[in-house]
Amino acid sequence: MSKIIAMAGKGGVGKTTVSALVTRYFSKHENCPLLAIDADPNSNLGETLGLEIEKTVGDIRENFMKDPQGVPSGMDKILYLEMLMNQVLIEHSTFDLLVMGRQEGQGCYCMVNNILNRFTEELEANYKYLLVDNEAGMEHLSRRSSGKVDILLMVTDYALRGLRAVGRINEMLGDLKLTVKQKGLIVNRAPETLSKAFLDEVERIGVPIVCTIPDDNNLLEFDMEQRSLLELDNDSPAVVAVDQMMEKVRPLID
Ligand SMILES: Nc1ncnc2c1ncn2[C@@H]1O[C@H](COP(=O)(O)OP(=O)(O)OP(=O)(O)O)[C@@H](O)[C@H]1O
Ligand SMILES: [Mg+2]
Repeated sequence: MSKIIAMAGKGGVGKTTVSALVTRYFSKHENCPLLAIDADPNSNLGETLGLEIEKTVGDIRENFMKDPQGVPSGMDKILYLEMLMNQVLIEHSTFDLLVMGRQEGQGCYCMVNNILNRFTEELEANYKYLLVDNEAGMEHLSRRSSGKVDILLMVTDYALRGLRAVGRINEMLGDLKLTVKQKGLIVNRAPETLSKAFLDEVERIGVPIVCTIPDDNNLLEFDMEQRSLLELDNDSPAVVAVDQMMEKVRPLID
């Protein structure tokens, strides 16, 4: 079964950046087939990885719901949806990307959702690792029928507000239909030494810090130049931090 690494954290703290750097890590290692899933309706993981997104799973769902009779004549609707799903998968030389896109509108989506979820799960089985870049509410994760995450990486910036958001997500996990095997805290844009107040709050929340990422000017530069984070130098501070984290995390989930 594939190992699932998922991101959580409040808006803007660096979930997509870390997701891109984890994808980068796997793409530099052999025998690590990875499916990256962008589960944020404002999807931008693809952009961060320099990939162009034309269509999302959400587009398939909405188009199908708008015109359920639009299935080409003589074609079974399940086969038709499967064909469309294959068009949505973006294949890169070292990993693949699936963009979930917009969330569903009004109406009964059960049938189409069931079919699409089944395809997604069949597709996922082909990969050793799945990486899920989530929206803050983690709707996508809670809707999965498999309901398992091997490690939930909770990202915060160096601020008590970000950290408390992680605390709330951590408390909410019990209400979700989700088994989270391991949890790790990532402190993004962190100074060299974390303050006592911050560390006390970390301890109260009870999720161990697995990574501290310093401010990395290259990220800003790449963002402005719309360059893929896959092209960052190996010694860029954020890359070094995430690579070190992954070396620690992989044995925990393998
Ligand atoms: N360590 C860092 N150093 C410098 N800039 C950073 C760092 N981490 C993230 N950023 C920048 O912060 C911004 C927000 O990061 P990102 O998009 O990864 O956050 P997010 O949690 O995915 O946001 P959202 O909730 O909107 O999806 C980006 O412009 C990114 O380049
Ligand atoms: Mg994001």
